[in-house]
Amino acid sequence: MLFVWVGAVLMTTGVVAATLGGDRLPGVCAGCHGEEGVSAGSATPTIAGTKTETFVQRMRDFKTGNRTATLMDRIANGYTDDEIGRMGEYFSKRPFERAQQPTDRAMAERGKHFAEQYCASCHEEAGTVDDGRPGILAGQWLSYLRFRLEDYRLGVDRIPKKMRLGIESILHEAGVEGLESVLQFYASQK
Ligand code: HEC
Ligand code: HEC
Repeated sequence: MLFVWVGAVLMTTGVVAATLGGDRLPGVCAGCHGEEGVSAGSATPTIAGTKTETFVQRMRDFKTGNRTATLMDRIANGYTDDEIGRMGEYFSKRPFERAQQPTDRAMAERGKHFAEQYCASCHEEAGTVDDGRPGILAGQWLSYLRFRLEDYRLGVDRIPKKMRLGIESILHEAGVEGLESVLQFYASQK
């Protein structure tokens, strides 16, 4: 079922690719991640604006199985390192556009405190920058952030030790609601 769906998406995105001009590669990704890497669906991350190195590392992790995926592992496997590098260059030059999504103001306010205490050393400037390869969290889709954090929490994916400690501290202090408040904080960045 999933294969059929991915196949259909890949076929329709072939058409989009032709209109992008220049390098046609990123067009394949447009069906899910948006033409300029800005995703319109809340379960699919925006990939515009990530540094090339971050992008390459992530695609490599999908390829080697270092990172769990619902479908990106199969997609990443279809590309050579050179092609991945070129796509990385392409998306790094596109601006990250923050998702327009409803967030809970009171919760985001509460989450700010936890984010500053436990996450800001790596997710600098309220998660708006990608320094040191953590990706951009500010304005990323909330549903996607929840999936990611759940994967980390369950220990499915490799994670920096300090990030794990941060997550555990928040859980200890404020439970799952505390963690949700941190994600609300990042998602609410306009
Ligand atoms: C059929 C939909 C679909 C297509 C097509 C697709 N992606 Fe994805 N992408 C996803 C989903 C869903 C995720 C979240 C991981 C997962 O569940 O596989 C993701 C995650 C990613 C991530 C990780 C982002 C992060 O914040 O960690 C990168 C990078 C990425 N995709 C790049 C690409 C590139 C490059 C292409 C084109 C070659 C592409 N994707 C095509 C659906 C898609
Ligand atoms: C020691 C540095 C560090 C700290 C502290 C840290 N993170 Fe991270 N975080 C990272 C790195 C590096 C990645 C990228 C991992 C990857 O792509 O495999 C990441 C990725 C993420 C992602 C997934 C982003 C994406 O696009 O896929 C989320 C969500 C996240 N962190 C949330 C948090 C939260 C919430 C906290 C605070 C509780 C936190 N992090 C603390 C380094 C850190």
